[in-house]
Amino acid sequence: MCESLNRKRAGKSSLSWPHVIPPRGRIAYVNGHYVRHGQAQVHIEDRGLQFGDAVYEVCAIEDGRLRDEQEHLDRLERSTREIEMAMPLPRSALKLVFREVVRRNRVRTGLLYLQVTRGAAHRDHPIPPRGLRPTLILTAHSLDPAAIAKRRAEGIAVITRPDERWARRDIKTTQLLPNLLAKTAARRAGAYEAILVDEEGVVTEGSSTNAWIVDKDGRLTTRALSNDILPGVTRRVIFEAAAEAQLPIIERGFAPKEAYAAEEAFISSATGIYPVIAIDGRRVGEGVPGPVTRRVQELYARKSAMRAGAADGWR
Ligand code: PDD
Repeated sequence: MCESLNRKRAGKSSLSWPHVIPPRGRIAYVNGHYVRHGQAQVHIEDRGLQFGDAVYEVCAIEDGRLRDEQEHLDRLERSTREIEMAMPLPRSALKLVFREVVRRNRVRTGLLYLQVTRGAAHRDHPIPPRGLRPTLILTAHSLDPAAIAKRRAEGIAVITRPDERWARRDIKTTQLLPNLLAKTAARRAGAYEAILVDEEGVVTEGSSTNAWIVDKDGRLTTRALSNDILPGVTRRVIFEAAAEAQLPIIERGFAPKEAYAAEEAFISSATGIYPVIAIDGRRVGEGVPGPVTRRVQELYARKSAMRAGAADGWR
């Protein structure tokens, strides 16, 4: 009875999966096929499901174009290499699939999600011998441009939480349980993001973002790249844009106390550069987005748009 009730509630879009919340987006790509979301399936012995033996990327779509696509592909290549997995398709083929998924879902502003798992095999811990076909999944969905613009303009609150993740946070794997627990704690506390703090009391990054502060001299500080943080694509593009604008960046860790006393703070990810106006209930600076953060948003937007325009002639 429960099942039939759920089926009614779930509506038409999830015919095969009556128990799931109807997903956003309409068409998914799974291993060479474009399928309706409700019909998209992977094997129950997929190593992504069984072990989290998978890597992923999230790429912003703005005005129907993929932002920082090359950098996301670079990082995907690195992630697969680090866990001894082959790329599922050559880069040129992946780019075609990206465009087709965006097109079929008619996304102007939103996110493209890609996951590559090692594939399906009888459950056994060691990495299976080569020859397993990786599972490649892509989805795309629209986001509300007004909600994004509001967060960019007005800023967000964050809380700090202990960083309980594994030691290879530089690899973009789907093993995100500590991240989602921290994010949930933030949302329950009325904040947007959780800023993670390591055992030494130093900020690593956000649960799904990189973390930055700005000092009195207008210098940016963010943690240096290492196994401790994800090498954010947005972070990388901010570095390039800041170098061109001669905006100094210091790469070092900082404690929450230093962040409380900072002039400004912000977080960066494919979903945007958001000013942080409160940390653990304390106001940052004047409690409103600051001029340096605004400048970084502008520099990033310009740099990223220039690249999209100069990309491979898509539309
Ligand atoms: N998260 N740090 C972590 C732990 C992340 O998960 C992310 C991205 C970032 C920022 O990386 P980028 O600038 O490449 O988006 C930093 C994505 C958006 C996610 O998991 O949904």
